[in-house]
Amino acid sequence: MDKRETYTVGYSDVALRYMMRRHAARDAAFLLPRLKPGMTLLDCGCGPGTITVGLAKAVAPGRVVGIDLEESQLEAAQQIARERGATNIEWKAASIYQLPFPDNSFDVVFSHALFEHLGEPQAALQEIRRVLRPDGLVALSSPDWSGNLMAPRDPEVEKAIEVYKAVQERNGGNPYVGREFGRFLQEEGFSRISLTAIYDCYEDVSLVAELLAQRIEEGVGRQVVSSPGLDRGDVAGLCRSLRQWAGRPTVLFAQSFVDAIGYAEK
Ligand SMILES: C[S@@+](CC[C@H](N)C(=O)[O-])C[C@H]1O[C@@H](n2cnc3c(N)ncnc32)[C@H](O)[C@@H]1O
Repeated sequence: MDKRETYTVGYSDVALRYMMRRHAARDAAFLLPRLKPGMTLLDCGCGPGTITVGLAKAVAPGRVVGIDLEESQLEAAQQIARERGATNIEWKAASIYQLPFPDNSFDVVFSHALFEHLGEPQAALQEIRRVLRPDGLVALSSPDWSGNLMAPRDPEVEKAIEVYKAVQERNGGNPYVGREFGRFLQEEGFSRISLTAIYDCYEDVSLVAELLAQRIEEGVGRQVVSSPGLDRGDVAGLCRSLRQWAGRPTVLFAQSFVDAIGYAEK
């Protein structure tokens, strides 16, 4: 694990199942029309690689590399790639802050749901820019929690979400990183920047609620968050409310993601 931050989501079975529902057709829809066969592509923080395999099909026979800090994620990714017949991907354990590639190695660098966990996102963008070829393309997608839609409204659930965001912030991340993408890209010298946003509407709200509740319990257990007026009993109650809310027949949890594109003119 990189010393600059702690990765909030962790590597439980619930976290793995949550990542594995993702796929390029939805989660990289903003990038797919710009991909061409033969392009080289790097996916930073690829996790179990369910998005990576879709990108690899789009650029085949181009070389694709998925990097992640965590070996267990890369093992899951290898298996998924084998099952889905993606043969043009290499998997490497590495940090986005120290990419193990020479300058000017890739046509495209993609990163989905990683930047919200980074303590130094602009240092990560400098590394991305270094490994991109002149006129190479960066594509980032991360949540911005200010845009979420959660129904039916429930004050306990809203408080639980506030505690989750506080855990993420204490771990060095930024739940509102999506809105910063444009500024970060501009400050790091990328050009032709474009921004869009989408909702990820969770088809299984219980799964995401369970993940959030576990991370709140774990974060508060480690005393990552010590909020005045909030004791362990309150936290247990909030997590119970979150789990119950997720089981309601009319539940909606739509998470807003910002999708950003930029070019490395060198
Ligand atoms: C929320 S998951 C996203 C996985 C995948 N991109 C997706 O959207 O399904 C974030 C991943 O980034 C990895 N990660 C965290 N910090 C990292 C770093 N500094 N460098 C590379 N990967 C990192 C984690 O191990 C985790 O697998």
